[in-house]
Amino acid sequence: MSTEVTEKETEAQTETEAESGESAHQSRRMEQKRQQASQRDLEEEARTEIDEAEQTIEVKVFRFDPEVAGKEEPRFDTFHVPFFKGMTVLDALIYARDHYDSSLTFRHSCRQAICGSDALFVNGRQRLGCKTQIADLEDHLNSTIRIEPLPHQEVVKDLVVDMEHFYDQMEAVEPFFDADELPDGDLEEQRQDRENREKIKMSTRCIWCGACMSSCNIAAGDNEYLGPAAINKAYRFAMDEREGEDRKQQRLNIIEQEHGVWRCQTQFSCTEVCPKDIPLTEHIQELKRESVKNNLKFW
Ligand code: SF4
Ligand code: FES
Repeated sequence: MSTEVTEKETEAQTETEAESGESAHQSRRMEQKRQQASQRDLEEEARTEIDEAEQTIEVKVFRFDPEVAGKEEPRFDTFHVPFFKGMTVLDALIYARDHYDSSLTFRHSCRQAICGSDALFVNGRQRLGCKTQIADLEDHLNSTIRIEPLPHQEVVKDLVVDMEHFYDQMEAVEPFFDADELPDGDLEEQRQDRENREKIKMSTRCIWCGACMSSCNIAAGDNEYLGPAAINKAYRFAMDEREGEDRKQQRLNIIEQEHGVWRCQTQFSCTEVCPKDIPLTEHIQELKRESVKNNLKFW
């Protein structure tokens, strides 16, 4: 009796599993069909918009996906995007992703040059996608706009690069304020005089985008070089008078190391590409002078 019940139960269970397997399969097919239909709609919408647009642009985008068979070989895909006034490189990428290929991968967040997540290599130069107007790119309507990931960084997928090494170099200079004295009495802020604030003002604008590091020939050849962004961060604190002489000495010890400021060959590439206009090369030179003063010995 018990065997009979068990067999019946097993049969019923098998049938239920087969049915649920069938229904899961059906739902997957339905979902696939729904996605295909929605993709067709988007492509149709894109074609209509392109027909109606007064102007279109052609963007060639670097593609690479090590995890998908057939996509591990780097290649370029070309997309046609309707051009509108005020359009940025990031807008063009978003359009291509939303209308042609949802697997197109890139980083972005704030869309106002604050988060630093969408640094790209556009027409041979490091730029922020959200800050770069298509209209500012030379001959944008008649030539192809080429969008690649930041050079000298390991590509994770499409336009996304691994920023781990960049963050490690930033960490190496201890990028945090370390006040010499705590504020007196009711004064809750660590006050700084106006001149000192002016001196470090530009260096505080860094958004950790990595464009400078990617443009630097020295960083490309020396993986241990601290790099322009980290040295600028060291400058921001070493020049802050609220930290005191002992802390400044420790900071100079960090940037004077073998792969520190003296590796810089004053090529200005970092300064040229920085989207926040930080005078990086100037800051590196100033730290070199500080380092020399620091090591002068008088007998
Ligand atoms: S220094 Fe400029 S280019 Fe370098 S990470 Fe900071 S904002 Fe980006
Ligand atoms: S999206 Fe944040 S800097 Fe461009």
